Amino acid sequence: MQTSRPSSSVSQEKKRKISICVHVRNGGPESPSCGGQESRVLIKELTELLVKKNLTDITVAESRCMGLCENGCMMYIEPDDVRYQNVKLSDLNEIVSSHLMQGQVVKRLRFV
Ligand code: FES
Repeated sequence: MQTSRPSSSVSQEKKRKISICVHVRNGGPESPSCGGQESRVLIKELTELLVKKNLTDITVAESRCMGLCENGCMMYIEPDDVRYQNVKLSDLNEIVSSHLMQGQVVKRLRFV
């Protein structure tokens, strides 16, 4: 039986792809965007962290706007179907160790 409630654990058997929004909105302070924050730095730092942790089967990619600009930086992890919001550099270690290595979703960052 399937439930509509998001699970807090994910399988570690799947090959993952992590997409991080890099879209920039040009509306000034009234139009926040992931690309206007640190999303490109997130991609660089996450890629380096995955190499350091020997998680080289996980790919990291830039993505277009996910339509959740007010909640950026936005990150989407496939095939787990998990979105993280307000992701900062300081969150990367927790996402890697908890979600990617232990299969436990980081609840405080999850967008539901
Ligand atoms: S700018 Fe990232 S979700 Fe829209």
